[in-house]
Formats: sequence, structure tokens, C-alpha cells
Amino acid sequence: MKKYITSPIYYVNDVPHIGHAYTTIIADTMARYYRLVGYDTFFLTGTDEHGQKIEEAAKAHNKTPKEYADEVSAKFKSLWDSFDISYDRFIRTTDEDHKLTAQNAFMKMYEKGDIYKGEYEGNYCVSCESFFPTKDLIDEEFCPDCGKKTRIVKEESYFFKLSAYQEKLLKWYEKDGCILPKGKKNEVISFVKGGLKDLSITRTSFEWGVKLPSSLNEPRHVMYVWLDALINYLSALGYTTDNKRMDYWNDAMHLVGKDILRFHAVYWPAFLMSLELPLPTSVAAHGWWTRDGKKMSKSIGNVVDPKKVADAYGLEAFRYFLLREVPFGQDGDFSQKALMDRINSELSNDLGNLLSRIVGMSSKYSNYDINKENVAKFYLAELETAKTHLEGAIEAINEVATNRYLEELWKVLNLANASVAKYEPWNLIKEGKSDEANALVALVANLLAKVAVLLSPAMPKSSEKIAKTLGFEINTKTYNDIILKNELLNLKSSNTEPLFTKVESELMAPPPLQKIEPIENKQEIKIDDFKKCVIKVGTILECDNIEGSDKLLKFKIDLGEANPRQIISGIAKFYEPKDLIGKQVCVLANLKPAKIFKHLSEGMILSAEDGKLALLSTLAPVKNGSLVG
Ligand code: MSP
Repeated sequence: MKKYITSPIYYVNDVPHIGHAYTTIIADTMARYYRLVGYDTFFLTGTDEHGQKIEEAAKAHNKTPKEYADEVSAKFKSLWDSFDISYDRFIRTTDEDHKLTAQNAFMKMYEKGDIYKGEYEGNYCVSCESFFPTKDLIDEEFCPDCGKKTRIVKEESYFFKLSAYQEKLLKWYEKDGCILPKGKKNEVISFVKGGLKDLSITRTSFEWGVKLPSSLNEPRHVMYVWLDALINYLSALGYTTDNKRMDYWNDAMHLVGKDILRFHAVYWPAFLMSLELPLPTSVAAHGWWTRDGKKMSKSIGNVVDPKKVADAYGLEAFRYFLLREVPFGQDGDFSQKALMDRINSELSNDLGNLLSRIVGMSSKYSNYDINKENVAKFYLAELETAKTHLEGAIEAINEVATNRYLEELWKVLNLANASVAKYEPWNLIKEGKSDEANALVALVANLLAKVAVLLSPAMPKSSEKIAKTLGFEINTKTYNDIILKNELLNLKSSNTEPLFTKVESELMAPPPLQKIEPIENKQEIKIDDFKKCVIKVGTILECDNIEGSDKLLKFKIDLGEANPRQIISGIAKFYEPKDLIGKQVCVLANLKPAKIFKHLSEGMILSAEDGKLALLSTLAPVKNGSLVG
């Protein structure tokens, strides 16, 4: 049995942050899980080093793109090494074998008739490296994904016949588990049903990319960075080079963030179909992290540095927190308080204290020997309940539902702790029922052993310590014996240090408060300048989500004019559309109209932001169209 696990390859224009650590730690957990259950597993991570964004970032740092990529790529690698990430290859898209695979794959798709030459005319977001083809070009189109201004691009380009794969893709989505979690699949389906345009897959306006195959004789073209990047998953297995590891391709799982799901769930399977290769078993997309309720941004300086968290609170606690804190697929919030709460109650109390208690009881009652003999006789019900939770944990991890998987394991720990409280072994001993007392110790020790085995993918070091303290080994055989066959072990405990110590106060400096530039630093304006802004009050008549964007809302606002205005605003994260209908807001009414994600926007709704966002309104209702000033 072979399994292939991949993380995204990270852009080298940014140093590693909590978002990168999250994807990588989930991928590492899945790789360790498949190894535990007996799969021959290949785990790939690496860096994405080509494209316009990297070329421009390198220039801004006065470096060549390669020098710049070498520096940042090394930072990712050394972080993953210090985190003991169990990758089998760290790929770089500047690796020679990758470039060759990318060219070979391009040629195959070309020969198949899926690639043709044309001209791209439309918008492009350099930050997302994403095309937004529009018929009527507008130079103020904003990227629906990141909100940054796009550029108009007009250049010769090769196209991939994505439109030809629409129906085949829709057919693929019918397969269970191909996109996880289930809810995300509907978003992908509605995007594809909305109609797929052919995709531009080469660029000619800059140089930093994989060259096209020499037989095409197109020295001006470089490959579109997303085509280059996605192919990394095949290069690492030797596709079209030595083909040595291609058998891993039959069962591939890609871990990605929700922002790059479209590339992995639409473009990538279409490329694979063109290459006549099997499609991934699953593409699993997680949500995004904020810090203390606020969006992380370099300019505020509140980006969570994973190394700092791990140094302060411990890597295992950090891994546990990331995997446990949010339901897979949903957005999460990092705060030191939330992390400390989990360390103190779940890791130190529920897990650590249980181990200490087992060692304490077994040393007192049976000279550290833990004998399974009478467990089933006295505590069958507990064994059965634990079995259900362990099965639940396996079911959850198979769906990458990391939080549910840990919750199920904690139910077993809670059961073990509750059993000690319920049966009071110290009283059993006093009453001369030492068989029952020893069986109870063996019950809870075995429950902890089972938890440690299944927890080992998420918390390898702590699980290892538990196993050492209880005198058993974590490997595929123990997994088969005590998890799948539900057997019990005779154990021998030994004294140990506490697994986790409580944390009384925050161990990292808080993030800086959002910098609000002092007003005196801004250029002063005259009242006439202000009067140029026409700000009006209006009532929201309609408010709807925009398909394909989780940021934008489309408003119809009555500004006391003949017709309501249509305004697009990027506030979907902060408000439910239905809560806004009927509310009065302030609108900058003489802003030049712009197209945002193909919708005309005739003005701007005003809001105040301090990390959270609130729309501006008047203290008392006024007539629609009233001027603010
Ligand atoms: N290079 C592409 C991926 C190519 S894969 C063939 C890319 N790189 S990235 O460095 O920008 O992002 C990589 C991953 O980090 C994505 O999965 C993204 O979701 C994740 N995160 C970046 N910021 C994040 C948060 N604030 N929170 C959670 N994850 C986020 O995209």
C-alpha cells in the first residue's frame, strides 16, 4: 500500500508564518498517520520559486531571483527541519529535474491537442498569480481573492483547453471524498458550473519562469507559474524523468489552504486528465488563521511566527493547538490565551496527569507491573465505550477532520480519568479488592496506550514519552494489535517527568497595537479639498453574496436618486447580508465607477477598521441622499 501526501509549495516572497506551519503540520500528521497504519508513504513539501511576484520581490531586494529564492527557500527548509517535519523530499521549482518534468508535461498536453497559441487580454493579479479574463477591460478591477488592484495584461500566450474538461470535472466531483471537507466541494462545483474559460498558461512580459520545451522554439515564453507549480507533485515522483516513484501517484492526497483550492480542484485535475494520469484521491482544504481576532498583516506586525510560538510553548503543544482549535475547513483564531487554556486543561491535566497517576498507582499497588488479566472481567463497558471513540477518531482522521479526531481521543482520556474517580482504586485496595484495583490501573493504562498510538501522528514526541513510560512501542504492529484488534497489553511503567507543565502567564510579547499614523504626519487639506468628496446617506435595499468570492457583497442602495446604486464592497467576512437590509450607511457617492470581480461598483460604503470592521451610519435616521459634511 502506497500513499502520497503533499503540502503546497510555498512562495519565496514571504518568510514562513502560522498559515504555512498549519498546512505543513496537517500534512505531516497525515503522513505520520499513514505510515503508522502501514502505508509506504511519500511526503512532499517545498518552495514555489518562479513567477512575476518573485521576480519583482527579488528586484525590490536588489537580488537576482535565484539568489533571493535560495535565501527564502532555505528558511522554509530549516524551519521544517527544526520542527522535525517528516518530509521525504523538499522540492524547489528551480530544481533541474522539476523543470524538465514541467517541459515534458507541457509537450504531452500540447501533442494531445489541449494547448493552442493565442493572445491573453484581461486582468491579472500578481499577488495571487491569477488571471481574470474580462471582455471590457477596466484598469480599476480589484482581485476578488486578495482585494489588491489587478493589472491589465495584453500579451501573446499559449492556452490550455480548460473549457473542454468542464463536464469531466463535474463527473469527478461526484466521487466521495475527492474534495474535503464536503462543504467546500459545493463551492467548487458552482464555480465550474458557472462556465470554464480556457486558461492562459504562458507569459511573455517577464522572464523568471520555466522555459517552454525547446522543440516549440518560443524563447520569449515562460510557463505560467501555477502550471509550473502544480507539476511539482509529479516531478517529485520522477514523472517522465526516472519514473521511479510514480506508483505513489495512485493514491495522492493534497493538503491546501482554501485560497488555493480552485487551482487544485479545477485546473490541476484538468491538467492531469490531459496527461491521462489518475486524479488525486483527495484535495483537502483548510481555513485561514487570524490573530486575536484580527487579520494578520506584515504592516501591522502581528503575523504569528511559528518558531517563536514553538520556542515559547513547545512544538508539541503548538501542533496540538493548531490541529484541535478549529474544525477542519473553517477559519481559526490564534491567541496566547486560547493556547494556554488548552495546554493547562487538556495537555497538562487530562493527558499529563493521567500518565503520572498511572505511574503512581502502579508503583504503589503492583511494583510498576500492569497486568491486563482482569480488565475485561471488571471493566468491559469501559472498554466498549473506548472502542467506539477510537473508531470515531480513525473515521475523523481519514477525513482530515483533525479537531474531531483529537476530540474523540480526549473522550477516551476523559473516560480513563472518570473511571479512576468513579471506582476509587485506593478504596478498593483498602477493601481488599486488589484484583479490581489492579485491573482498573491496567484499564486506564491501556486506554492511555491506545490513545498514545493514535495520537502519535499529531504529537509524536509526547506519544513516544508515554509509550516509553508505560513500557511499549508505537509501531504498525501495536496499531494493529491494540487499535484494530482492540487487544490489551501487559505493561511495565517507570517514573518520569511531567509531560506538560502548566503555563501561568503569556510567554510571548503581545503583538504591537495597530499603528495609527498621527494626523500631523498626514498632509493637511483645505475645506475645499474635503468638499470634493460627496458623501451621502442611503438605505440598503438589497445585499447579496457574490458567487465565487467569499469577500465581496453586492449592494443596491437608495441614495435618494432616480435609481438605486449598485456598490460592491469587500465586507462579506464581517456581515451577514440579511442583517444589513434596511440599514442606513454613508457612501462616498462621487467615486469613479470601477469593476470589481466583473460587477460595476458605483461608490464606496464607508467603514472604520481596527482589525474588525464597522460600517458608518448617522446617529438618527435621515432622508436618503442627505449629504455628510
Ligand atoms: N505557491 C502557492 C502554492 C502552490 S502549490 C502547487 C501558494 N503559496 S503561499 O505561500 O502563498 O501559500 C501556501 C499556503 O499557506 C496556502 O495553503 C495558504 O492557504 C496558506 N496560508 C497563507 N496564509 C494563511 C493564513 N493566514 N492562515 C492559514 N493558511 C494560510 O499559495
